[in-house]
Amino acid sequence: MSNDRTSLPPSAVDPLARLAAVAGPAFASAIGRSDADAVVRPSDRADAQVNGALALAREVGRQPRELAEHVVSSGALDAVAASTEVAGPGFVNVTFSTSLLNDLLTAMASDPHLGTPQAVTPRTVVIDYSAPNVAKEMHVGHLRSTVIGDALVRMYSAVGHRVVKENHIGDWGRPFGMLIEHLLDLGEDVAAAGLGQGDLDGFYKAANAKFNESPEFQERSRERVVLLQAGDAQTTALWDRLVAMSTDYFNAVYAKLGVLLTDDDLAGESQYQPLMPATLERLAASGLMTESDGASVVFPSGFTNRDGDPLPLIVRARTGGFNYATSDLSCVIDRVERLGADLMLYVVGAPQQQHLEMVFAVAAMAGWMPDGVAAVHVAFGNVLGEDRKMLRSRSGDSVKLVDLLDEAVERATAAVAEKNPDLDDAERARVAHMIGIGAVKYADLSTDRIRDYVFDWDRMLAFDGNTAPYLQYAHARIRSIFRRAADDGIEMTSPRIVEPAERALALALLSHGSVVADSIAGNAPHRLCTHLFELAQRFTSFYEQCPVLKADPEVRGERLALCDLVARTLAHGLGLLGIDAPERM
Ligand code: ARG
Repeated sequence: MSNDRTSLPPSAVDPLARLAAVAGPAFASAIGRSDADAVVRPSDRADAQVNGALALAREVGRQPRELAEHVVSSGALDAVAASTEVAGPGFVNVTFSTSLLNDLLTAMASDPHLGTPQAVTPRTVVIDYSAPNVAKEMHVGHLRSTVIGDALVRMYSAVGHRVVKENHIGDWGRPFGMLIEHLLDLGEDVAAAGLGQGDLDGFYKAANAKFNESPEFQERSRERVVLLQAGDAQTTALWDRLVAMSTDYFNAVYAKLGVLLTDDDLAGESQYQPLMPATLERLAASGLMTESDGASVVFPSGFTNRDGDPLPLIVRARTGGFNYATSDLSCVIDRVERLGADLMLYVVGAPQQQHLEMVFAVAAMAGWMPDGVAAVHVAFGNVLGEDRKMLRSRSGDSVKLVDLLDEAVERATAAVAEKNPDLDDAERARVAHMIGIGAVKYADLSTDRIRDYVFDWDRMLAFDGNTAPYLQYAHARIRSIFRRAADDGIEMTSPRIVEPAERALALALLSHGSVVADSIAGNAPHRLCTHLFELAQRFTSFYEQCPVLKADPEVRGERLALCDLVARTLAHGLGLLGIDAPERM
């Protein structure tokens, strides 16, 4: 599900959109309607195919082929087409006029957004992502959420929406009693040293082990939770320390990753605690809340358990405590009523699907999501090891994210040293960081997020295939052409396509803005990845077939202009994915 309010106008430089804009009205007038969808698609046979005749003719009892021929002979498509051909049951194959493509390329080259459409009315989009848990290791699931969320933040911002980043960290709940007691037992400095190195799992496990062994520790932990909930000053200060030690570690990971999250974006579960009593009151007043086995629950319609019985969302446990659902309901209210959210994205792993859908359903039933406001679970699958099981470290523990990122940079350093021995140490380190981190991010973003993917160092760091290094290399290669051109005093002019390889490249370039819009509509960064890969591949074949610096002076300037547009488009697209494009590598 997407949100109509955040939909974008068509890209001004996409020839397919131009074709749709003339073909739609032509079909509409042919069948006596005010508008019609011409169903324009890219095509292998020509540049584009108009498929609308099939469905539209059926609706008005005409022959699709006859309708298609009628539209073609009306001349309506001539504004964009060099040639048209009615094929099969009534498809129209369209080859764009070369002058149209050249005009669009020139328009794209002077557009800072490179044809990416801008929202007519900017909306408020709240993106909930990353969300690791205090005093617990950030696992690869959090890596996925962080990387996907960061790309979505960049994409929604790039089309002019107001984006609110929220890092909904797990910083509240019963375990905090035991964690604070363990902190006191260790002494704050010892605890800080361990947690600072990212040994969050060790800390949590040790606290948990003590809790299971020692009734005395259990008792202290229980008392501590009560003190925490009551807002006791000393306890709150200890809790603050614990949170700060963890967020310091999270920030170190974010800095390595180069994502946009800062402390200003922290909106942990604790923040919603004061709002929960009011949430419960509003639920009770709405008449939706019922008692079940001493707990307060809501039955959202459409949710049943395995036996087909209605499934409750528990909003207050039998013991009187609030829970994850109460916190998420309060969070919806806060996002809609305080932040003015039009769209809320939850970049959270697939296992939380039922929880989130029940929360959204209850919020909608309670009237907390007015018309036009949408909540979307941007779900994702698992990261698997090469054995196709959940990714684990060699010792069998969950993988520490910093270690993973450091290894990426280390491996990239070796790859860069091999590829380009001429780089000095400082530049090699800088480029290796961009490549290593880019490779990890791209591996995550380039498959449909809902699918699991295998974490494979060799594949993600390869300089060919659908990888960040391949795209970064295509970009750097173009930049190096420009360095040589500058040495020879050669300047680019305006793009003008002649050869088939140039035409294929132009079509990929001109689709860029539409692909960005489509990736946003589906919260699907992999669509942008697929497009960038295609663009880089078409650039590679163009470069093999069409000499640039060795071409005739006039052609040379035009080809350089095409190259420049490719480099800018690659850098723009990689930028939306949160990936750097080095100038050389
Ligand atoms: N902290 C949670 C976890 O690690 C994710 C929170 C997602 N956001 C939310 N609003 N529930 O699983």
